[in-house]
Amino acid sequence: MPHLRYITSGESHGRAMAVIIEGVPSGLEISPSDIDSELMRRQGGYGRGGRMRIESDTVQILSGIRLGRTIGSPITLLVENRDWANWEEVMAVEPQKGQPHPVTRPRPGHADLAGAMKYNTHDIRDVLERSSARETVSRVAAGAVAKRFLSEFDIRVVSYVTEIGGVGSRISNLVSQGSEKRIMGLFKKAERSRVRCPDKEAERAMIRRIDQARTDGDTLGGVFEVVVLGVPAGLGSYAQWDRRLNARLAHAVMGIQAIKGVEIGLGFEMAGRCGSEVMDEIYYRQRTGRFYRKTNNAGGIEGGMSNGMPIVVRAAMKPIPTLRNPLSSVDIVTKRSFRAVYERSDICAVPSASVIGEAVVALVIADAFLEKFGGDSMEEVRRNYKGYIRQISRF
Ligand SMILES: Cc1cc2nc3c(=O)[nH]c(=O)nc-3n(C[C@H](O)[C@H](O)[C@H](O)COP(=O)(O)O)c2cc1C
Repeated sequence: MPHLRYITSGESHGRAMAVIIEGVPSGLEISPSDIDSELMRRQGGYGRGGRMRIESDTVQILSGIRLGRTIGSPITLLVENRDWANWEEVMAVEPQKGQPHPVTRPRPGHADLAGAMKYNTHDIRDVLERSSARETVSRVAAGAVAKRFLSEFDIRVVSYVTEIGGVGSRISNLVSQGSEKRIMGLFKKAERSRVRCPDKEAERAMIRRIDQARTDGDTLGGVFEVVVLGVPAGLGSYAQWDRRLNARLAHAVMGIQAIKGVEIGLGFEMAGRCGSEVMDEIYYRQRTGRFYRKTNNAGGIEGGMSNGMPIVVRAAMKPIPTLRNPLSSVDIVTKRSFRAVYERSDICAVPSASVIGEAVVALVIADAFLEKFGGDSMEEVRRNYKGYIRQISRF
């Protein structure tokens, strides 16, 4: 059983999105602004659709936090859907007199057709409301709590976009080889970029690519990287498949809507190289009494465990499935072909996905951290952590 669990709920045009987080120790200081700032980061990015202008997400904390600190009980977070006012009848809990029009036209690339078959409904709204990436609001809110927890141990989770619609930057190589200071420098630049790309030249080319896609009535995907700094060696384990940290990270990141591939460190590129090129050789510095590496091709994970280097997770996002240029599909009631009608939608959401990536990665790292140093209060966790750091520093 995970040490930090969470479950999300809510429909895209329903009253609110929610999440319950279980396992956060008592005594962690947290305020709504810690969560709101992450929700705001999720909403940013060049290429988003109209909905982002309607929604300005703010959290309500319903349980688990008292007088500015966690108390060890489940934390319930709720984010209202401001658009709900326009959907009260369509999304009503009680049956309505004039039932709203069912949605019978499945969109290619969405959960619509398989979801309608699986849940035995001829109103696809029952499916699309929950399969929507609006759900990630809940995960970003939970991730903000995990980040707040990790920051108490100087662990930071950051991200950047490295590719949009085939337009790439060289950032990726810099990240896997770079020092923590350099990575934080890149992250600060990414925070100021409209596409979350620290490489100015690549940023301009990415924006041009998005503008082109908009003109063409098309959409784009891309690649982002999440980096975790300050993780001690020894989180996760080689001893059992489901305890491997890389497997847990891949599960969480693949769980984000539209993510089609996850790599750790050099990832797929490693497959084509010689062993002599990719293993991160081990050195020892007498002066500090520390082991160290000059490279980080492993992305901070060896044998399913963190090895003390920055953890580097890369994810590939597919293009947004709703296009202005309509795609062919078949009505599930009439069985007639149609060309989908365009609805307001994102052209590219890779920058936002990278923020969501940070959240789910933070939740996995916090879970693995609590598995290793777990306690019911922050004081107890701190004591366990310090004892272990002392142990490995004398190793
Ligand atoms: C941050 C984010 C925003 C998204 N915005 C849209 C959107 O505006 N329109 C759309 O059709 N799909 C959007 N998607 C993608 C769909 O949610 C996703 O492709 C769909 O639910 C099918 O799931 P799958 O791609 O994992 O198979 C978005 C995904 C993310 C992560």
